[in-house]
Amino acid sequence: MREDFPMLKKDIIYFDNGATTLKPNILIESLKDYYENYSANAHRGDYDISLKVDTMYENTRKIIKNFINAKKESEIAFTSGATDSLNKIIFGYFRNTLKENDEVLLTLSEHASNILPWFELKDELNLNINYIPLDENYEVTLENLKKVITPNTKVISIAHTTNVVGDIRPIKEIIEYAHKNNILVVIDGAQSVPHIKVDVQDLDIDFLAFSAHKMCGPTGVGVLYGKEELLNNIKPIIFGGGMNASFDYDGVRIYKEAPHLLEAGTPNIADVIAFGKIVEYINNIGIENIHKKELELKQYLIEKLEQNKNITIYNKNSKSGIVTFNYKDIFAQDLAIYLNKYNICVRAGNHCAKILKEELKVKNTCRVSFYFYNTKEEIDKLVEVLNNKKIKEEII
Ligand code: ALA
Repeated sequence: MREDFPMLKKDIIYFDNGATTLKPNILIESLKDYYENYSANAHRGDYDISLKVDTMYENTRKIIKNFINAKKESEIAFTSGATDSLNKIIFGYFRNTLKENDEVLLTLSEHASNILPWFELKDELNLNINYIPLDENYEVTLENLKKVITPNTKVISIAHTTNVVGDIRPIKEIIEYAHKNNILVVIDGAQSVPHIKVDVQDLDIDFLAFSAHKMCGPTGVGVLYGKEELLNNIKPIIFGGGMNASFDYDGVRIYKEAPHLLEAGTPNIADVIAFGKIVEYINNIGIENIHKKELELKQYLIEKLEQNKNITIYNKNSKSGIVTFNYKDIFAQDLAIYLNKYNICVRAGNHCAKILKEELKVKNTCRVSFYFYNTKEEIDKLVEVLNNKKIKEEII
């Protein structure tokens, strides 16, 4: 399937799939087809190509509903990405349901998108924010969650898989326990939905956010999933066309129900339609096969890196395709720039998880994040370059 990806025909080794993945031809063809053959608006026209757009756009909603096993299509709203989804959940639902001194539980390894909106809401409503402690592997356990829950805890908002350590949280147990204590759970699925099966009914997820571009899809499309009864109480934070049924000069207005309530303005039609094709593509590969391949690659890389005494790996045990490491006495960003000389793309820095440094005791790391198209041969090349005896001379 590597031949499906034009970028893989270039002379690069792409190991930055946690940031965004490469795109297959099917995505490019779908965009081209929309712009060349039926580039009308959605939900507004009474002519053939507009009706085709409506059908294709809503078909993606159906595909996503099935992909995450939501009960209803109306539980799926399209956004511009996981960040947008989280903001809409936090300011559209929790701003109206939380009150002073209510507590929000996060973890120190959350990405900025699952922390900053909560900080803003904390300031606005005088909430308390607390963190579930991480264990010695920087992972979340149910035991540690139980230690910090208080009668004031009203919501837990955590990544399913984290973007630095790559640990897959035991969210089924966490959600079950949370619900017994009348606590809602928001799941940031940006790093999990592209890699492992996420069944919102089986996991009993209240709200889920994820992005298309981290699973071979287009940039600028995300999904906000919410249980129907929660979405019925969400308020829009963006107002305009498409989300209202009527309004008058005196300010009387009637808004539509979710999900259209959350999709004001012309949506990202071409990309939403293309995302539907991509999810079908991912389904054909099989999400279990994707996860299996990534774990094989991770294991292979770890075995090789462990032979290099200069390398510290921070997340040997986590069960996703993310490997985070440093090379002794080389600044992480310098190492990434060195790897770039060999056309190897990795991410270096704090990876937008800016408070994790307190736990890792290191501010910056290098991150390799795999997707199903990566190969052991690519890993061999990375390892060869990292084992270069003259690495420091080349960096200076
Ligand atoms: N959250 C993305 C990453 O981890 C951007 O790289």
